[in-house]
Amino acid sequence: MVALGSALIACEAGPDAAASEDATHASDTGARLLTSPAEAEDMDASDGSVRVRLEAATRSYEVAGDVVDGYAYNGQNPGPTIRARVGDTVTVEFTNDLDAATTIHWHGIGAPVEMDGVTWLENPVEPGQSFTYTFAVRTAGTFWYHPHVDVERQVDLGLYGALVVEDPDEPEADAEFVVIWDAWGESELEEEHTMPAPDSLTWTANGVLLPTLALEAGERARLRLINAANTAYLDLRWPEIHQIGGDQGLLAAASSPESILLAPGDRADVEIVPTNDGFSIETAPYTASGGAAYGDNRSLLGVDPVEGDDVADPLEWPHSGEVPSLDTTWTDIVYVLQGGGDPDGWMINGESYPDVTVERIALGAETIVEVRNLSSTEHPFHFHGNSFEVLSVNGVPPVVRTIEDTWNVPIRDVVRLRVVPDNAGAWMVHCHLLGHEAGGMMTVLEVE
Ligand code: C2O
Ligand code: CU
Repeated sequence: MVALGSALIACEAGPDAAASEDATHASDTGARLLTSPAEAEDMDASDGSVRVRLEAATRSYEVAGDVVDGYAYNGQNPGPTIRARVGDTVTVEFTNDLDAATTIHWHGIGAPVEMDGVTWLENPVEPGQSFTYTFAVRTAGTFWYHPHVDVERQVDLGLYGALVVEDPDEPEADAEFVVIWDAWGESELEEEHTMPAPDSLTWTANGVLLPTLALEAGERARLRLINAANTAYLDLRWPEIHQIGGDQGLLAAASSPESILLAPGDRADVEIVPTNDGFSIETAPYTASGGAAYGDNRSLLGVDPVEGDDVADPLEWPHSGEVPSLDTTWTDIVYVLQGGGDPDGWMINGESYPDVTVERIALGAETIVEVRNLSSTEHPFHFHGNSFEVLSVNGVPPVVRTIEDTWNVPIRDVVRLRVVPDNAGAWMVHCHLLGHEAGGMMTVLEVE
């Protein structure tokens, strides 16, 4: 049995604590079972296209046993998971029933620029209005969606959901879970909206505090992990991590890291095959202002297997085995990340959005971008529209080819990226700590 902190279990006695009634094994701890967010209903029966409806509205929902007034897609937090297959066209009929203008950004997907949910190019969706987003999904993987207007407040109030793109060539796991982590108590905005404001950060997985994952021993589960927090990092640890995917689908090779750093905006796919013993997924203390921090690890998710066969080989994932591209002797664009004194004083190359220089690069041309962090905190550096390959971190190339859309840049790090853009448009480039983005750490890269 996984040891669950009794103080945390006490907080579980929320309005729908009864949900644990169907928990056979986990129920003796009082913990609730983890379930994936409900999926959006596909209204299109034809092959190759997925059509769903999303509605954003002010909504009360439960977080960690408290009912809070926030924002939600289709009344749920996290919003519904949109599931498609690689090559599909996804159409989202979106209605804004909020009291504020909003948009949806498809994080990591590389949607066409007019469908990307950025405000400076198109008008946001005003209260009471609708907009239909349509885009093709070109890469299999774990992606997510969230607003791109007043982003710090709207995401914090609960507007986010997963977008899963399946590849029929990947093996099907015995079980699959989408796990969206969010941290509550990370911003003052929450108090205005009667969000829970605990003394210290409270992490939930799919809106539930410290849930348990019910699996049989020997059952192979794929977990699609997403960090939807505004500013809080996860430094995930459990025995024998088997990471299979990152931001942009399967990794070039399977990896067995000691820990997985999931910065805000990041994703990781992992396979777990529990033995009869069970374990717990924990986060080590980690802050943007210097990385690893002092303190104890905290449990986030218990893996509490029902006894079973106990032995199963991991699945065979079709990793590409690709080697990294060679770093170059030239650089096309340098982005220096600066700021830290003033909450609104976050900059890239001395400029704060929207007063920024638009860099221009050519469609299809290899472009080398160097990111140097000269500021006082770490920054998850995020590209819209096109993904990038990490060529080197402080001069050291990755072991295998690493394709990302969000990459955490620690203080003083120099990261070199290679982009061969196949998606034209004027794209946002920004820090995914949403307070930094709102505070100006955003610029525009135009692909023409
Ligand atoms: Cu999830 Cu502009 O980002
Ligand atoms: Cu930042």
